[in-house]
Amino acid sequence: MMCAQMMRAQMIMAGLMAGGLVYGQNSQGEAVFAQTCATGYCHGAKGTASGAPRLAGRGFDVAYISGVVTRGIPGTSMPAFSVRMPPPALAAVIGYVASLNGISVPNPTGGQPATTAALSAEASRGAQLFKEAARSFGRCSTCHELGGFGIPVAAPIVHAPDSVAALKSLATPAVKTATAGAEAMPALVLSDGKRSTVFYDLTSVPPVDRNAEPGSVKFADGSAWRHLSVIGAYNDSELAAILAYLRETIKP
Ligand code: HEC
Repeated sequence: MMCAQMMRAQMIMAGLMAGGLVYGQNSQGEAVFAQTCATGYCHGAKGTASGAPRLAGRGFDVAYISGVVTRGIPGTSMPAFSVRMPPPALAAVIGYVASLNGISVPNPTGGQPATTAALSAEASRGAQLFKEAARSFGRCSTCHELGGFGIPVAAPIVHAPDSVAALKSLATPAVKTATAGAEAMPALVLSDGKRSTVFYDLTSVPPVDRNAEPGSVKFADGSAWRHLSVIGAYNDSELAAILAYLRETIKP
């Protein structure tokens, strides 16, 4: 069940978004959590036990937390927040729940860098390239959020590929094929339930988020979409620098 407070929190978040205040707020994840997840029946202040399970110190990993918060748990009262929260708030709250489990997600909320440890020269160059305005929508931050920059179209990056070759041949298991009438497109599904069907259409860059009538779109596993097709704005040496940045920023 959606708590009334939850609806209110979304409206607050929407207001913050409209005011452009979301990025750069360090404690945003904690604030979103307090307003949205710790209300009424749900998860308790700072992730302690309440009606729903305790979230602190459970040894969850980021992929798990991100999956549950984004997609919800079918058949329980845990909703899919991807359709209820703007992506920056979602990333911030995932980072906060991760922090309750002793994981430091590289600065999910923007603001001050979570890791003040200096990056190597190669990795700093990669950090610039990752979000470089001159690449326009070809930059990685069009679809990935890292270090407080970018749009989390894709789930947070949890593995840095070992080599440029590995990055180029990356498997993308989350990308499905959506069929709506005669139209087929590569898609990242955010929600496909009785009440809403929301997905990112990856046909073009930047991806477009689409809302459809529930049941009107069919999703099939697999897709002809290739990650390689969206990283062409960089040469191999630039990609190697970006990988150095990923390796130094993403802690296993
Ligand atoms: C147009 C959108 C888009 C752009 C631009 C893009 N990616 Fe991705 N990327 C994706 C999608 C979608 C996935 C996830 C697919 C999945 O999980 O199935 C992904 C997955 C990844 C993964 C795997 C994550 C993991 O934890 O396994 C890495 C690493 C990655 N991208 C790096 C990059 C880098 C580096 C760049 C820039 C050079 C980049 N991406 C540009 C859409 C994009």
